[in-house]
Amino acid sequence: MTHQECINCKTTYGIDEIIYFCKKCGDILEIKLDFKELSETLKGSDWLSKPLSVWRYRDFMPIHEATKVVTLNEGGTGLHRSERLGAELGLKNLYVKNEGENPTGSFKDRGMTVGVTKAVELGARHVICASTGNTSASLAAYAARAGIKCTVLIPSGKIAYGKLSQAMIHGAKVLQVKGNFDQALEFVLKLAEKHKDIYLLNSINPFRIEGQKSLGYEICEQLNNQAPDRIIIPVGNAGNISAVWKGMTEFHTLGFIKTLPKMTGIQAVGSAPIVQAIKTNSDKIIPVEHPETVATAIRIGAPVSWKKAVNAIHESNGTAETVTDEEILDAQKILARIEGIFVEPASASSIAGLKKLVKNGVISKDERVVCITTGHGLKDPDTAVKMSEKPVEVEAEMKAIEDALGLKRQVILAR
Ligand code: F0G
Repeated sequence: MTHQECINCKTTYGIDEIIYFCKKCGDILEIKLDFKELSETLKGSDWLSKPLSVWRYRDFMPIHEATKVVTLNEGGTGLHRSERLGAELGLKNLYVKNEGENPTGSFKDRGMTVGVTKAVELGARHVICASTGNTSASLAAYAARAGIKCTVLIPSGKIAYGKLSQAMIHGAKVLQVKGNFDQALEFVLKLAEKHKDIYLLNSINPFRIEGQKSLGYEICEQLNNQAPDRIIIPVGNAGNISAVWKGMTEFHTLGFIKTLPKMTGIQAVGSAPIVQAIKTNSDKIIPVEHPETVATAIRIGAPVSWKKAVNAIHESNGTAETVTDEEILDAQKILARIEGIFVEPASASSIAGLKKLVKNGVISKDERVVCITTGHGLKDPDTAVKMSEKPVEVEAEMKAIEDALGLKRQVILAR
């Protein structure tokens, strides 16, 4: 039977039990599918005739058959062949999977459609999360859609304005905690522990990861049932890299793909505990006390799902790398200018990481690479405006406009 399982001591729990940490050893949980049962279900299912989306994979989700899903049409995002960017970086086979195309503008919607559906299934009337912005925007939207109460804790003065506006307009109770994301997360974990009627929807919740694993499934289907050689992904709290790897291994176990990709996680220099663990071959992370980066979404020093992420990187024979703020902003600009894809800074870290790893010879030019861009550029317009050429103010006159454009004026001769 499909169940929840501790990633460390393998203790199992039912899928209708509200639990975030293993009662025996305190580690985090994951959903384990019953592949025999799933294979049988898939034989009689019409899933292949459904459009590319999270709920195309309903049979793969630990949600009861009779449950009504809370959805805004998430998933089915573009996998864009990026020839011009590939040529710039020296790669023949580069794709960008643009998660900014989701309903609230980030990959979080994949997790929230499943997480909030599960919350309602379990009878929850109040959901909560800590967030660097996108999680709160997404949770607020899905809670509104479900008609339940939403509380979000965000770090004080440090989240991008687009994201904050989303949480506010959807009616969430927004608390700005005078501290960083890691501190906010500690509080919501304690709150959910203490007040059993509040359901926690950070990525520590394994049902969210189930929704996000569809990102891995989709990439395979968009590549005609093949995995790419490598997936490059920004890492913050480390839920998403774990989710994509879970999707990949499940499709592999089911025989839908023959090979597996190398999972490659990218963090910003100022908040890179996972890269540090990978590079030093350590089986523990050293939390970063004061994480810093322009990529506010991944300004996280103590990623709660670090163990899952480190496992994913090791198991897939992948790697992890850091990028500077300058490299991130440069990649954001290049992607916008030569592929027409506008992403927020954290998302561009996957492109910056790719550039660095190609330059260092870690990624070979023949690899088929998918870079995941995780959130839309409009989430953080301030950063985009700051680094772009300012608008030129001109008089409302033809001559002034032509002059500003450097156009020669043509004199029209009277006959
Ligand atoms: N990219 C973006 C745009 C994000 O918002 C996040 C995480 C990540 C990457 C990293 O994903 O945490 O699964 O490793 N944002 C969270 C939030 C923490 O609160 O919105 P991860």
